[in-house]
Amino acid sequence: MTATLPPPESSGATRARLPIRTLRTDRWWLGPVLTVAGLTAFLVYGLLRAFQQDHYWVPEYHYLTPFYSPCLSASCEPGSALFGTFPWAFPWFIPYAVISLPLLLAFRFTCYYYRKAYYRAFWQSPTACAVREPHGRYTGETRFPLLGQNLHRYFFYAAFLISLINTYDATNALLHGENGGFGIGIGNIVLFGNVILLWAYTLSCHSCRHVFGGRLKSFGDRPFRYWMWTQISRLNTRHMLFAWITLGTLVITDLYVALVAGGVITDLRIFN
Ligand code: FES
Repeated sequence: MTATLPPPESSGATRARLPIRTLRTDRWWLGPVLTVAGLTAFLVYGLLRAFQQDHYWVPEYHYLTPFYSPCLSASCEPGSALFGTFPWAFPWFIPYAVISLPLLLAFRFTCYYYRKAYYRAFWQSPTACAVREPHGRYTGETRFPLLGQNLHRYFFYAAFLISLINTYDATNALLHGENGGFGIGIGNIVLFGNVILLWAYTLSCHSCRHVFGGRLKSFGDRPFRYWMWTQISRLNTRHMLFAWITLGTLVITDLYVALVAGGVITDLRIFN
């Protein structure tokens, strides 16, 4: 004779049926709340500035905000288009940095860290470890549109090139002090600080680590790749930190350039 078993203690194939959403008693909601606040604030600020089409260039010192680099509209202020422009002036709804901004947004959107952050904070899949998510099904990144997250490795190459352009912008500003030659002001320090941290974020990317260390059976006869992989692996452990810091430095840099360009503050010169 067989005993009658109780119904399985699960609502699906693998999920435990709990009477409450979670048994956690710590402040597990704080991380997702801060993530929503931080990412939303950055997106709102970035969108407003990208479409403002003003106060992005300081002609005296050649300060160009990264939100407008490279400036590609025929209406870019004289001197700000360091790599040339398209033959027409962009309407208000097309950012002057029409190529770099979408690529950088895609780079961050598909970043392994940001994926974790916004899956948890916005999509709540899951909200946090051991907290029941509101979705009935989980398909991961196996179908459209999330299958597109695999493009991250290509966006890395684009971001690498754009970091080179930002480095050129910062260097170019150094060569345009008050007398037209070499000079250093607070703006130069802000621009260079931002560029250094952008490099730290870009080079700590998981795809960058794979470029140097992936698809190899042995590092034995590849000392340079081994060295690079080791350094990138060190940076990679702080990728989340760089992801957040660079959101902050991008805003600070852009705001500084906007305030100087708008005449609200004067750039403090240290040398020439
Ligand atoms: Fe974050 Fe590549 S994993 S930028």
